[in-house]
Amino acid sequence: METTQYDREEHIFTAFLDPYMKFSSGLFSSHETSFENSVIEMLDFLLDSAQISNGARVLEIGTGWGCLIKRLKERFPHATYTGVSPSAAQITYVREHVDQQAPIHVCAFELAEVQGPFDAIFLSGTFCHLQDKFLQLERIFNLLAEGGRLIIEDSFFRSRQAMEVLRECSARGEVQTAMFGWAELMPLSSLLDISESIGFHLVSCRDFTDDYERTGKEWIRRLAKSALSYPAKKDMLFYLRLANNGWHRNAYCYALTFERPRRVDMPSVLELVNKEA
Ligand SMILES: C[S@@+](CC[C@H](N)C(=O)[O-])C[C@H]1O[C@@H](n2cnc3c(N)ncnc32)[C@H](O)[C@@H]1O
Repeated sequence: METTQYDREEHIFTAFLDPYMKFSSGLFSSHETSFENSVIEMLDFLLDSAQISNGARVLEIGTGWGCLIKRLKERFPHATYTGVSPSAAQITYVREHVDQQAPIHVCAFELAEVQGPFDAIFLSGTFCHLQDKFLQLERIFNLLAEGGRLIIEDSFFRSRQAMEVLRECSARGEVQTAMFGWAELMPLSSLLDISESIGFHLVSCRDFTDDYERTGKEWIRRLAKSALSYPAKKDMLFYLRLANNGWHRNAYCYALTFERPRRVDMPSVLELVNKEA
Protein backbone atom coordinates (compact mmCIF):
# COMPACT_ATOMS: atom_id res chain seq x y z
CA MET A 1 0.00 0.00 0.00
CA GLU A 2 1.16 3.52 -0.85
CA THR A 3 2.62 5.65 1.98
CA THR A 4 0.77 8.94 2.59
CA GLN A 5 0.74 11.60 5.28
CA TYR A 6 -1.56 9.36 7.30
CA ASP A 7 1.31 6.88 7.76
CA ARG A 8 3.73 9.51 9.04
CA GLU A 9 4.86 9.69 12.62
CA GLU A 10 2.50 11.16 15.11
CA HIS A 11 4.96 13.89 16.25
CA ILE A 12 4.38 15.72 12.96
CA PHE A 13 0.66 15.92 13.73
CA THR A 14 0.99 16.63 17.45
CA ALA A 15 3.00 19.69 16.34
CA PHE A 16 -0.10 21.43 15.00
CA LEU A 17 -3.33 19.51 15.73
CA ASP A 18 -5.52 20.05 18.82
CA PRO A 19 -5.46 17.66 21.81
CA TYR A 20 -8.16 15.45 20.17
CA MET A 21 -5.98 15.28 17.03
CA LYS A 22 -8.87 16.02 14.66
CA PHE A 23 -7.50 16.32 11.14
CA SER A 24 -10.65 17.85 9.66
CA SER A 25 -12.71 20.95 10.34
CA GLY A 26 -13.51 22.59 13.66
CA LEU A 27 -16.71 24.54 14.31
CA PHE A 28 -16.25 28.17 15.38
CA SER A 29 -19.69 29.06 16.69
CA SER A 30 -18.50 32.56 17.57
CA HIS A 31 -15.57 34.83 16.87
CA GLU A 32 -14.25 34.13 20.38
CA THR A 33 -14.27 30.32 20.03
CA SER A 34 -10.76 28.99 20.62
CA PHE A 35 -9.22 26.47 18.22
CA GLU A 36 -9.31 23.75 20.91
CA ASN A 37 -13.01 24.37 21.63
CA SER A 38 -13.86 24.48 17.93
CA VAL A 39 -12.85 20.84 17.70
CA ILE A 40 -15.01 19.81 20.65
CA GLU A 41 -17.94 21.80 19.23
CA MET A 42 -17.57 20.07 15.89
CA LEU A 43 -17.31 16.58 17.41
CA ASP A 44 -20.42 17.29 19.49
CA PHE A 45 -22.22 18.64 16.44
CA LEU A 46 -21.44 15.42 14.54
CA LEU A 47 -22.51 13.16 17.44
CA ASP A 48 -25.71 15.16 17.98
CA SER A 49 -26.52 15.10 14.25
CA ALA A 50 -26.39 11.31 14.46
CA GLN A 51 -28.65 11.37 17.56
CA ILE A 52 -26.18 9.23 19.49
CA SER A 53 -27.33 7.86 22.81
CA ASN A 54 -25.74 5.48 25.29
CA GLY A 55 -25.77 1.99 23.81
CA ALA A 56 -25.60 3.25 20.21
CA ARG A 57 -23.66 1.08 17.76
CA VAL A 58 -21.20 3.34 15.95
CA LEU A 59 -19.00 2.73 12.91
CA GLU A 60 -16.32 5.22 11.91
CA ILE A 61 -14.71 4.97 8.49
CA GLY A 62 -11.33 6.74 8.63
CA THR A 63 -10.51 6.64 12.33
CA GLY A 64 -7.63 9.12 12.06
CA TRP A 65 -5.90 9.78 15.36
CA GLY A 66 -9.00 8.85 17.34
CA CYS A 67 -10.82 12.16 17.89
CA LEU A 68 -14.34 10.79 17.44
CA ILE A 69 -13.88 7.69 19.59
CA LYS A 70 -12.34 9.89 22.33
CA ARG A 71 -15.31 12.27 22.41
CA LEU A 72 -17.81 9.41 22.00
CA LYS A 73 -16.41 7.59 25.06
CA GLU A 74 -16.40 10.81 27.10
CA ARG A 75 -20.05 11.53 26.38
CA PHE A 76 -21.51 8.06 25.83
CA PRO A 77 -19.40 5.48 27.69
CA HIS A 78 -21.84 2.68 26.82
CA ALA A 79 -21.84 3.26 23.08
CA THR A 80 -20.01 0.60 21.09
CA TYR A 81 -17.42 1.68 18.54
CA THR A 82 -15.97 -0.02 15.49
CA GLY A 83 -13.37 1.72 13.34
CA VAL A 84 -11.85 1.20 9.91
CA SER A 85 -8.52 2.71 8.88
CA PRO A 86 -5.74 1.65 6.52
CA SER A 87 -3.13 3.56 8.57
CA ALA A 88 -1.24 1.31 11.02
CA ALA A 89 0.52 4.38 12.51
CA GLN A 90 -2.81 5.97 13.42
CA ILE A 91 -4.25 2.78 14.87
CA THR A 92 -1.18 2.30 17.06
CA TYR A 93 -1.66 5.87 18.30
CA VAL A 94 -5.38 5.29 19.01
CA ARG A 95 -4.61 2.10 20.95
CA GLU A 96 -1.83 3.79 22.96
CA HIS A 97 -3.54 7.12 23.69
CA VAL A 98 -7.30 6.73 23.35
CA ASP A 99 -8.64 3.18 23.74
CA GLN A 100 -6.47 0.08 24.11
CA GLN A 101 -9.31 -2.22 23.13
CA ALA A 102 -10.68 -0.20 20.20
CA PRO A 103 -11.87 -2.69 17.58
CA ILE A 104 -10.47 -1.26 14.35
CA HIS A 105 -10.25 -3.01 10.99
CA VAL A 106 -6.75 -2.24 9.69
CA CYS A 107 -7.55 -1.85 6.00
CA ALA A 108 -9.36 0.36 3.53
CA PHE A 109 -13.13 0.33 3.98
CA GLU A 110 -13.44 -1.04 0.45
CA LEU A 111 -11.74 -4.25 1.71
CA ALA A 112 -13.13 -4.36 5.25
CA GLU A 113 -15.47 -7.16 6.28
CA VAL A 114 -17.64 -5.17 8.64
CA GLN A 115 -20.74 -6.65 10.23
CA GLY A 116 -23.71 -4.33 10.92
CA PRO A 117 -26.18 -3.16 11.85
CA PHE A 118 -25.06 0.25 13.12
CA ASP A 119 -27.11 3.14 14.46
CA ALA A 120 -24.64 5.68 13.13
CA ILE A 121 -21.82 5.70 10.60
CA PHE A 122 -19.33 8.59 10.43
CA LEU A 123 -16.93 9.71 7.72
CA SER A 124 -15.01 12.89 8.56
CA GLY A 125 -12.60 13.78 5.80
CA THR A 126 -12.73 10.21 4.51
CA PHE A 127 -15.50 10.14 1.91
CA CYS A 128 -13.13 11.72 -0.65
CA HIS A 129 -10.76 8.75 -0.22
CA LEU A 130 -13.31 6.04 -1.02
CA GLN A 131 -13.03 4.37 -4.40
CA ASP A 132 -16.27 3.55 -6.24
CA LYS A 133 -18.39 5.80 -4.09
CA PHE A 134 -21.74 4.48 -5.32
CA LEU A 135 -20.85 0.92 -4.31
CA GLN A 136 -19.45 2.04 -0.92
CA LEU A 137 -22.52 4.17 -0.15
CA GLU A 138 -24.72 1.20 -0.98
CA ARG A 139 -22.68 -0.95 1.46
CA ILE A 140 -23.00 1.80 4.08
CA PHE A 141 -26.77 1.92 3.55
CA ASN A 142 -26.99 -1.84 4.12
CA LEU A 143 -24.80 -1.61 7.24
CA LEU A 144 -27.21 0.88 8.85
CA ALA A 145 -30.16 -0.16 10.98
CA GLU A 146 -33.48 1.23 9.81
CA GLY A 147 -33.65 4.81 11.07
CA GLY A 148 -29.84 4.78 11.40
CA ARG A 149 -27.85 7.87 10.37
CA LEU A 150 -24.88 8.51 8.13
CA ILE A 151 -22.76 11.60 8.76
CA ILE A 152 -20.40 12.79 6.03
CA GLU A 153 -18.11 15.74 6.74
CA ASP A 154 -16.01 16.55 3.68
CA SER A 155 -15.10 18.95 0.90
CA PHE A 156 -17.09 19.04 -2.34
CA PHE A 157 -16.29 20.88 -5.55
CA ARG A 158 -18.22 24.12 -5.85
CA SER A 159 -19.50 23.01 -9.23
CA ARG A 160 -18.95 20.43 -11.93
CA GLN A 161 -17.02 23.09 -13.90
CA ALA A 162 -14.67 23.70 -10.93
CA MET A 163 -14.04 19.95 -10.83
CA GLU A 164 -13.16 19.83 -14.52
CA VAL A 165 -10.79 22.82 -14.31
CA LEU A 166 -8.97 21.42 -11.27
CA ARG A 167 -8.59 17.97 -12.80
CA GLU A 168 -6.33 19.65 -15.37
CA CYS A 169 -4.12 21.24 -12.68
CA SER A 170 -0.84 19.33 -12.34
CA ALA A 171 0.25 20.70 -8.92
CA ARG A 172 -2.84 19.22 -7.35
CA GLY A 173 -2.01 15.78 -8.72
CA GLU A 174 1.56 15.78 -7.43
CA VAL A 175 0.81 17.08 -3.97
CA GLN A 176 -2.27 15.00 -3.56
CA THR A 177 -0.55 11.72 -4.37
CA ALA A 178 2.54 12.42 -2.31
CA MET A 179 0.81 13.75 0.81
CA PHE A 180 -2.85 12.95 0.75
CA GLY A 181 -3.02 9.58 -0.99
CA TRP A 182 -5.67 8.80 -3.57
CA ALA A 183 -8.70 11.03 -3.27
CA GLU A 184 -11.49 12.21 -5.50
CA LEU A 185 -13.73 15.12 -4.63
CA MET A 186 -17.12 15.37 -6.29
CA PRO A 187 -19.64 18.18 -6.50
CA LEU A 188 -22.41 18.01 -3.90
CA SER A 189 -24.98 17.43 -6.66
CA SER A 190 -23.29 14.09 -7.49
CA LEU A 191 -23.47 12.92 -3.88
CA LEU A 192 -27.15 13.89 -3.65
CA ASP A 193 -27.88 12.08 -6.89
CA ILE A 194 -26.14 8.90 -5.71
CA SER A 195 -27.64 8.99 -2.22
CA GLU A 196 -31.16 9.43 -3.62
CA SER A 197 -30.78 6.47 -5.97
CA ILE A 198 -29.66 4.30 -3.06
CA GLY A 199 -32.65 5.31 -0.92
CA PHE A 200 -31.12 7.67 1.66
CA HIS A 201 -33.18 10.50 3.13
CA LEU A 202 -31.24 13.76 3.46
CA VAL A 203 -31.90 15.15 6.95
CA SER A 204 -29.58 18.17 6.92
CA CYS A 205 -26.66 19.84 5.22
CA ARG A 206 -24.56 22.45 7.00
CA ASP A 207 -21.84 24.54 5.43
CA PHE A 208 -18.44 24.62 7.19
CA THR A 209 -16.34 26.25 4.48
CA ASP A 210 -15.31 29.26 6.59
CA ASP A 211 -14.76 27.07 9.66
CA TYR A 212 -12.49 24.74 7.71
CA GLU A 213 -10.49 27.65 6.32
CA ARG A 214 -10.06 29.04 9.83
CA THR A 215 -9.05 25.58 11.05
CA GLY A 216 -6.45 25.40 8.27
CA LYS A 217 -5.07 28.83 9.23
CA GLU A 218 -4.75 27.67 12.86
CA TRP A 219 -2.87 24.53 11.76
CA ILE A 220 -0.46 26.64 9.70
CA ARG A 221 0.08 29.14 12.53
CA ARG A 222 0.70 26.40 15.09
CA LEU A 223 2.99 24.40 12.80
CA ALA A 224 5.04 27.47 11.86
CA LYS A 225 5.58 28.21 15.59
CA SER A 226 6.34 24.57 16.48
CA ALA A 227 9.75 23.04 17.13
CA LEU A 228 9.23 20.39 14.42
CA SER A 229 12.48 19.92 12.52
CA TYR A 230 13.31 20.36 8.84
CA PRO A 231 12.28 18.86 6.35
CA ALA A 232 9.07 17.52 7.92
CA LYS A 233 8.00 21.03 8.90
CA LYS A 234 8.70 22.51 5.47
CA ASP A 235 6.86 19.67 3.65
CA MET A 236 3.80 19.83 5.89
CA LEU A 237 3.65 23.64 5.78
CA PHE A 238 3.77 23.54 1.99
CA TYR A 239 0.94 21.01 1.90
CA LEU A 240 -1.26 22.85 4.41
CA ARG A 241 -0.80 26.21 2.64
CA LEU A 242 -1.57 24.71 -0.73
CA ALA A 243 -4.63 22.91 0.64
CA ASN A 244 -5.93 26.03 2.37
CA ASN A 245 -5.42 28.30 -0.63
CA GLY A 246 -6.56 25.83 -3.26
CA TRP A 247 -9.32 23.78 -1.71
CA HIS A 248 -11.22 26.55 -0.05
CA ARG A 249 -11.36 28.52 -3.26
CA ASN A 250 -12.62 25.59 -5.29
CA ALA A 251 -14.54 23.52 -2.81
CA TYR A 252 -17.14 23.92 -0.09
CA CYS A 253 -16.97 21.95 3.14
CA TYR A 254 -20.25 20.41 4.30
CA ALA A 255 -21.49 18.12 7.04
CA LEU A 256 -24.40 16.09 5.71
CA THR A 257 -26.75 13.92 7.71
CA PHE A 258 -28.55 11.12 5.89
CA GLU A 259 -31.00 8.58 7.30
CA ARG A 260 -31.82 5.08 6.20
CA PRO A 261 -35.62 5.41 6.25
CA ARG A 262 -37.67 3.00 8.33
CA ARG A 263 -39.67 0.61 6.18
CA VAL A 264 -43.23 1.82 6.11
CA ASP A 265 -45.90 -0.20 4.35
CA MET A 266 -47.48 2.70 2.50
CA PRO A 267 -49.61 2.25 -0.59
CA SER A 268 -47.98 3.65 -3.71
CA VAL A 269 -49.36 6.85 -5.30
CA LEU A 270 -50.82 4.68 -8.07
CA GLU A 271 -52.62 2.43 -5.55
CA LEU A 272 -54.05 5.53 -3.81
CA VAL A 273 -55.27 7.00 -7.10
CA ASN A 274 -56.88 3.68 -8.09
CA LYS A 275 -58.56 3.41 -4.69
CA GLU A 276 -60.03 6.91 -5.02
CA ALA A 277 -61.30 6.25 -8.57
C1 LIG B 1 -8.50 13.66 6.70
S1 LIG B 1 -8.22 12.20 7.66
C2 LIG B 1 -9.52 12.37 8.84
C3 LIG B 1 -9.35 11.48 10.01
C4 LIG B 1 -10.41 11.63 11.09
N1 LIG B 1 -11.70 11.18 10.64
C5 LIG B 1 -10.48 13.06 11.57
O1 LIG B 1 -11.50 13.73 11.34
O2 LIG B 1 -9.49 13.50 12.18
C6 LIG B 1 -8.80 10.88 6.59
C7 LIG B 1 -8.70 9.49 7.19
O3 LIG B 1 -9.21 8.54 6.24
C8 LIG B 1 -8.41 7.37 6.28
N2 LIG B 1 -8.60 6.68 4.99
C9 LIG B 1 -8.01 6.95 3.81
N3 LIG B 1 -8.47 6.09 2.86
C10 LIG B 1 -9.37 5.28 3.47
C11 LIG B 1 -10.18 4.18 3.04
N4 LIG B 1 -10.14 3.78 1.78
N5 LIG B 1 -10.97 3.55 3.94
C12 LIG B 1 -11.01 3.98 5.24
N6 LIG B 1 -10.27 5.02 5.70
C13 LIG B 1 -9.46 5.66 4.83
C14 LIG B 1 -7.01 7.90 6.54
O4 LIG B 1 -6.17 6.89 7.08
C15 LIG B 1 -7.30 9.01 7.52
O5 LIG B 1 -7.33 8.51 8.83
